[in-house]
Amino acid sequence: MEFTARDRLKLLGGASAFLLSACGGGSDNSSSTSGIGAGPSTPVTPTTPTTTTPPPTSPPPSGDVSIVDGLLRDTFTNNFKMGTAMTDNRVRANDLSAEIALAQFNSITPEYELKPDQIAPTEGVFNFVEADRIVDWALANNMEVRGHALVWHEATPDYFLQGSPAQIRARLENYVTTVVDHFRGRITIWDVANEVTSVDLYNGTNGVGPDRDTAWFQAVGNADYIDWAFLAARAADPNAQLFLSDYETENPMKRGWLIDIVRRLRARGVPIDGVGHQFHLQLNTDPDQALAAIDAVTNEFAGLINHVTELDVSFYTDPGSCWESETNCQPDVGNPAPADMLASQATLLRTLFNGLMLRSSVETVSFWGVRDGDSWLNESPTVRSNHPLLFDRDGNPKPALLAITDPNYVI
Ligand code: XIL
Repeated sequence: MEFTARDRLKLLGGASAFLLSACGGGSDNSSSTSGIGAGPSTPVTPTTPTTTTPPPTSPPPSGDVSIVDGLLRDTFTNNFKMGTAMTDNRVRANDLSAEIALAQFNSITPEYELKPDQIAPTEGVFNFVEADRIVDWALANNMEVRGHALVWHEATPDYFLQGSPAQIRARLENYVTTVVDHFRGRITIWDVANEVTSVDLYNGTNGVGPDRDTAWFQAVGNADYIDWAFLAARAADPNAQLFLSDYETENPMKRGWLIDIVRRLRARGVPIDGVGHQFHLQLNTDPDQALAAIDAVTNEFAGLINHVTELDVSFYTDPGSCWESETNCQPDVGNPAPADMLASQATLLRTLFNGLMLRSSVETVSFWGVRDGDSWLNESPTVRSNHPLLFDRDGNPKPALLAITDPNYVI
């Protein structure tokens, strides 16, 4: 009988080790029951036992592995919450990713529903239907909710930037106040400002940071809009944790600029509780540089919280031209994912998670989606199969998931 990933999730509640179940052919693998599970290193009923048979290779064949409810969140329960992006559409469709999220994660970031173009596509008209629905779904299932994002240069209607700086400020304050107040007591964490750090390192004008030259920066004439958003958010909900989130903090120069911005905010008395590291990584990213980004925040600002906000590990290392104009993008690696790349991803994430577990300032680690097919990286920067998450397209745990939840798993 063939079990789907959804069937297995239902069947496996309650146990404390992940289960490896072979579907016939080759050798069966059995998990030990110690701790959080064991790697597939103990042949139980090899069909042709001989002394020269090498141990079964890992990972086991696709579709043969299931994990028990709660494995991910329980593995890190003493360290940080495990989060994922999720959409209201997936929840309403009872999509397998929503089901896996309920079984494995305890923090949710709505992927679209809290962006300004969703909440207030027209000035003065607020629509909270979709956002309320996914937030309440998460809360009803005892999950933390990360609100993403109040100020961003993307997914923001043009009207936000029209008029004088004073008009822009009043409009932004009204937006932030209305939204944060609406979710007061439900959304406890906000990405107040998203991606405001300079990206000049990409076009050769190094050293002009720290602020990114966004449409917000240009409309206001400086980076004061960041201050306005944080101050309004704190006033609307004094109990919410307020974050500045950005990508590529694993790059030392960008990280330095982000630190400069945080230092300036604190010097001005702007309330900031934490830094979000998106960590959209690639297979060739040095995980120690990601950990260095966490340490940089902690070393500079004692008491500031670190979150990993949008973790994924792309199978591509495209040049900047791919992101800018879809030229010179790397060729599609195809589907299913190449085994050597799955192994590299697992190694990277194991090192990263081992390091994150040692850093007490890290309170939430969120992936940007559940299954590989969910990921924005299948469309950005170009349409191509990508495999950046912990579960494959069918909902099966990937080597990376086994690597971070089981120290004995052989990559
Ligand atoms: C992305 C979503 O995942 C996409 O589906 C959407 O089309 C664009 O936005 N950094 C962020 C996220 O802060 O909000 C982005 O999410 C991914 C990059």
